[in-house]
Amino acid sequence: FCLKNYNTFGIDAKAKLFVTVHSVDELVEVLTSFPDKKKFILGGGSNMLLTQNIDALVIHVNLKGIKIIDENDDFVWVESQAGENWHEFVMWTIEHNFGGLENLSLIPGNVGTTPIQNIGAYGVEIKDTFVLCEAIHIETQELLVFDNAKCKFGYRESIFKNEIKEEFIITSVVFKLTKRNHKLTTSYGAIETELQLQNCTKPTLKDVSNAVIAIRKSKLPDPKELGNSGSFFKNPIISKTDFDKIQQKFPEMPHYVVSETEVKVPAGWLIEQAGFKGKRFGDAGIHKNQALVLVNYGSATGKEIWEVAQNIQKSVFDTYGITIEVEVNII
Ligand code: EPU
Repeated sequence: FCLKNYNTFGIDAKAKLFVTVHSVDELVEVLTSFPDKKKFILGGGSNMLLTQNIDALVIHVNLKGIKIIDENDDFVWVESQAGENWHEFVMWTIEHNFGGLENLSLIPGNVGTTPIQNIGAYGVEIKDTFVLCEAIHIETQELLVFDNAKCKFGYRESIFKNEIKEEFIITSVVFKLTKRNHKLTTSYGAIETELQLQNCTKPTLKDVSNAVIAIRKSKLPDPKELGNSGSFFKNPIISKTDFDKIQQKFPEMPHYVVSETEVKVPAGWLIEQAGFKGKRFGDAGIHKNQALVLVNYGSATGKEIWEVAQNIQKSVFDTYGITIEVEVNII
């Protein structure tokens, strides 16, 4: 089974066995029918790089449905099934004037995979509105609830990437959103500029969402036109002591203070300085507008993209002594 249309990098890898499930019952049936088969869980395919064929049963989680499960005057609790497209879900919340997810507009992928790496953009992460998710244990088929604390969210991190990696399949997620007195996060420079451009002094949820969409479209390639997985690397967080040493040599290095002892450096800047921005190696390349994004010009293999990524890591390390960690899942 060809997976090219099931991963946003557009890698032409094959799966030995492939099944799409549309309900929790179907999912449990598949899990219990093939107890000894190795399983590979596929959502929107937007955060992985396939470097080889998949010698496993690929389970494509396609559970659909969005519903309001509770509300009061100020808040609404919305449950989305895992297979809903993330951006379409965000658009649904904005149409209903529910606030909290507008900054996360246009992020590729499905709802069910968003908690795994605590997706974030423009000053907002899903952990800010996430209430709980339900997940099925692959081996025992037990259905568990993970509340916000249990997920151990961090910067592009959660329990699903660490302690219980590949043990569970997330089936639905609940978010708590505002119905009024929305708390907009517009302090991110690019959003402020975009809202000013639109002469927007009292922005609505829709205005913020539109601003985010405009910014993302100007910087980030649309996976339908150019294969990619968003940020390929995480922005490295380094100690203030290390940062001070590096800054003496590179005073122009941009940075954000994370805590009294830690500093975050934009990996995009490091990669651009290392001379990779816009470069192309065969069909694998580095995006011309955002150096953090690796792209597939058509027929690059996952191995070729991985090789470019490793060269970038090495070059950044040799120049700055900083290790940039991969954000996407390398399969
Ligand atoms: N920069 C460069 N050159 C580049 C790219 C970035 O010099 O080619 C420097 C600039 O100094 C710029 C700074 O990096 O001011 C920040 O750039 P940007 O606002 O584009 O954000 P980012 O740190 O590169 C992160 C997320 C994105 C998210 C944006 C906006 C990570 C790994 N990435 O990127 O998330 O959209 O902030 O909040 O944290 C994703 O995860 O797939 C993703 C796109």
